[in-house]
Amino acid sequence: MKTTLLAFVLLFAVISSQPLLGAAEASPDQVVDTSGKVVRAGVNYNILLSMPYSNCRSPQGLGLSKIGKSCPLDVVVVDRYHSLPLRFVPVNPKKGVIRVSTDLNIMFPPNITCPHHSTVWKLDHFQGSKGHLLSFVSTGGVKGSGNWFKIEKYGGAYKLVYCPSVCHSCKHDECENVGMFVDEKGNHRLALSAVPFQVKILKD
Ligand SMILES: *[C@@H]1O[C@H](CO)[C@@H](O)[C@H](O)[C@H]1NC(C)=O
Repeated sequence: MKTTLLAFVLLFAVISSQPLLGAAEASPDQVVDTSGKVVRAGVNYNILLSMPYSNCRSPQGLGLSKIGKSCPLDVVVVDRYHSLPLRFVPVNPKKGVIRVSTDLNIMFPPNITCPHHSTVWKLDHFQGSKGHLLSFVSTGGVKGSGNWFKIEKYGGAYKLVYCPSVCHSCKHDECENVGMFVDEKGNHRLALSAVPFQVKILKD
């Protein structure tokens, strides 16, 4: 009799813990824009950047520039009034809403300067003058195959991180922050960096 009762108690404990397990696997939070609205796939947004360590009062934006080669174009930091709109494309194209910590392609609208190259963000690696590897954000990536970025919560806003591959159980440490690198010619390039930009998302 006692064992039957114990079995019932155990069964009840297992059943009642199920919703908790379900909740733990809930989708990550939705990303919201500066007006608090959910950020959606295929909609144009401007990214507003601020550097945590800079005393630059106005946030900056992102644009395209030819740096050292004709095509594809590279992603540069510009003042916000010259920023170009961009779109987020989730790894699962059926998802209409952008969530934090999920793999995304990021793309600008097509640009006539480089009509034969895509405007999907991808990384370009260079050997720095001190022998270390520099990784800049360029374009010419292929949508849906690598070039994965994620939006993560950061200091009351967001940051962008680059994550080499789709990995559903990976921790954040496998991703690298997206920040800025000023090259020897003074180009303010979007690059992988120890210090991330703080990012806000403004509907275009
Ligand atoms: C196109 O690329 C040029 C750089 O070659 C850039 O100055 C311009 O802002 C871009 N325009 C659009 C609409 O993307």
